[in-house]
Amino acid sequence: MLMIISAWVSIFFTILLAPSKHLWALITGQGFFLAFFSMSWFFLQDFNFFNSLFLIDNISGPLSILTCWLFPLTMLASQSKLCLEPVNRQRAYIANSTFLQLTTLLAFTASDLMLFFIFFEASLVPTMIIITRWGAQERRLEAGMYLAFYTMLGAIPLMIWLIKFYSTQGSLLPTLTHPLLITQAATNYPGLFWATYNAAFLVKLPMYCLHLWLPKAHVEAPIAGSMILAGTLLKLGGYGILRTSPLLLEDTLNQTLLIMLVAILGILATALLCLRQTDLKSLIAMSSVSHMNLVVAAALICTPWSYSGAMVMMIAHGLTSSALFCLANTSYERTNSRTMILLRGTLLIFPLAGTWWLTVALFNMAIPPTINFAGEVLIMASLFSWSPVAFLIVALNLIFTTAYTLYVLWSTQRGPLPNHIKTLFPYQTREHLLFLLHTLPGFLLILKPDLIFL
Ligand SMILES: *[C@@H]1O[C@H](CO)[C@@H](O)[C@H](O)[C@H]1NC(C)=O
Repeated sequence: MLMIISAWVSIFFTILLAPSKHLWALITGQGFFLAFFSMSWFFLQDFNFFNSLFLIDNISGPLSILTCWLFPLTMLASQSKLCLEPVNRQRAYIANSTFLQLTTLLAFTASDLMLFFIFFEASLVPTMIIITRWGAQERRLEAGMYLAFYTMLGAIPLMIWLIKFYSTQGSLLPTLTHPLLITQAATNYPGLFWATYNAAFLVKLPMYCLHLWLPKAHVEAPIAGSMILAGTLLKLGGYGILRTSPLLLEDTLNQTLLIMLVAILGILATALLCLRQTDLKSLIAMSSVSHMNLVVAAALICTPWSYSGAMVMMIAHGLTSSALFCLANTSYERTNSRTMILLRGTLLIFPLAGTWWLTVALFNMAIPPTINFAGEVLIMASLFSWSPVAFLIVALNLIFTTAYTLYVLWSTQRGPLPNHIKTLFPYQTREHLLFLLHTLPGFLLILKPDLIFL
């Protein structure tokens, strides 16, 4: 595992040494090479690796693979805009993305909970730099502030809990602490206890009501920022909840009923809000909140099925939302606008890009054979066995999700071309490759979904 980490560190040398003409080609090539290398290593270990520093199991394995896979894709996606900037700024951008990649990868694989916490927080630094330095508009500073304050405030209880736990038990290795955690959870208010120490994760996911930083951050972030934010950073929260889940005993569900209600409300409210968005990026961000609240609900139900569902949902959503952001970005690069009404009518001009829109939209809608569908079925089934009423309410979400996905598809693809658009430069092979590499893992996972089941 240290080998993998040092392999990723080697990107820094490429950044320093590569001639500026071949910088992006070299970085992207090396990224793909490293992604394949790490993936084959993870598969060789069969998601079963443990030492005092690293822990790879069924929860962290798939998420680490997702992280590794998304890095070269972000490099592929951000070249066209970044190539216009001064070389030093390009190098700084790649360095910061690599730093972000390293912190997320280490957070997913660290075996010690304190190490996990440190990398979890450390990922905030490069994210903030990327958003505030390379964001498109002035409000990026505000977005960065929101991101920092929400995350830091949420993290305080977790840190206190981790320190207290370490001082009483002397260890923070999850495999060793599971039996201990359960005995410790028998406090007077298990629900409140759970909610407080999970606040950091609930903010990161984000749970409804704590999600205000997310649309801002997504709207202001450059493409690589959005992709990594939606693809892996939100999953850090889900990973944290699943990792510390043995604390939530089965009878605690009654005590966390309030959070469950907020999550269910959030699923519906954000899906409905999507129908009212005019800004393509903030719509995708809202749909992330909706999907992630399903993960919160699944984590609260706390059965093997719901955990599998949460896991599948996270992986599927990581691929789909990242692809959606890429699609939005290609339109943005052509029209310099995120307003959907200005992007409409491109189906006639770019039929192949229209196919990608359709494919990704179908994935987002969770059409049956896709992996998103598997995740939703698992979550809905466990929701049904918990409470049929809750199931019926959340089932409305399926309609809303379909509705807003169709809304995106219709408003970007159909209709007349806006009059002000005179020239649209064609899609490059690079962009088609980018979408292919996003959808391909989705199709492959249909064939072998048990890879990401818990
Ligand atoms: C991130 O970017 C800033 C400049 O915006 C640069 O000073 C810094 O060195 C970069 N960070 C890393 C880890 O390279």
